[in-house]
Amino acid sequence: MTLPSEKIVRPDADGLRRAVEVLRAESVVAFPTETVYGLGADAFSARAIGEVYRLKNRPSWNPLIVHVANVEAARALTESWPSLANELAARFWPGPLTLVLPRARHLAGVGAENDTIAIRIPAHEVALRLLEASGLPLAAPSANRSESISPTTAEHVVRSLPDVPLVLDGGASSWGIESTVLSLVDETPTLLRPGALPLRAIREVTGSIGLPDTVADGAARPSPGMSRRHYAPRATLILAKDVRDVDRAELAEPIGVLTYETADVPGAEILPADPGEYAADLYAALHRLDDAGVATILVQEPPQTEDWLAIRDRLTRAAAK
Ligand code: TXA
Ligand code: MG
Repeated sequence: MTLPSEKIVRPDADGLRRAVEVLRAESVVAFPTETVYGLGADAFSARAIGEVYRLKNRPSWNPLIVHVANVEAARALTESWPSLANELAARFWPGPLTLVLPRARHLAGVGAENDTIAIRIPAHEVALRLLEASGLPLAAPSANRSESISPTTAEHVVRSLPDVPLVLDGGASSWGIESTVLSLVDETPTLLRPGALPLRAIREVTGSIGLPDTVADGAARPSPGMSRRHYAPRATLILAKDVRDVDRAELAEPIGVLTYETADVPGAEILPADPGEYAADLYAALHRLDDAGVATILVQEPPQTEDWLAIRDRLTRAAAK
């Protein structure tokens, strides 16, 4: 649908060299991670961080995740590093878990006036090569306009952010949904954003996890970025207990339908019934339906179990007015 963009480059030696040049010049580069594509900037360049907020049209109160290449680099950003952070890092990094910790006092806030910092080591060869080649901690929110669907391919990035200077193409993101954000600032580890890494896996290390009451219903919560409307396609998204029961007369046409099981609905996109596989395809499916020009996306509501928590969270937000 879109023309190939000259901004999308292969992550070979030349592509990486160009990306590092742009980052060192305090501008921004989109790069692949295993969750979604990130819009990367030198975490401690005010100019580069300003560029991230401007390109995304991101509200200034919403802080950024910092990506690093190894645990030493992560520790260096923090004021204190609890043993639980070591255990979680050993088990899940590189990977889709972001830890929020007290920020080292000599460092500036990464886009926010708080005293914490969110950090992860991404499990993507291109992201790791970029971190190593640049030698910079890279702040990187998802590489999309604020509130719209996160990108899982280089093409999604260019479509959402046509002014992005450069995108390293690492193919489709394998997890397809953002990292799980866990705060270790207080005694009890607290979930700030459900995400790719299931809570069940995290509990094996942490024991109990504090869950804000509102975690599954899309209401306010302590992770500042969890605004109610987020992750939304251009089309109106409607979550239905059974898409076959919805009165279509009320809906704007054309209507696209997204289910996760075989249902007798003409033209439905059917995603896998496994939550991990569903997550890997969800954003790409929403992008496809948007590109097809539908005005309404009817989505079959997934089961109300913890395994579907992150998916239900994203769908609820995408459906919020
Ligand atoms: O998978 C991901 O996490 C992707 C890839 C690119 O790494 N990044 C991503 O970033 O989703 P973003 O900016 O779209 O989401 C970051 C989330 C937001 O909800 C933000 O409010 C929260 O992390 N966050 C960042 N810094 C924080 C902090 N210091 N304290 C609490 N929450 C924080
Ligand atoms: Mg985002």
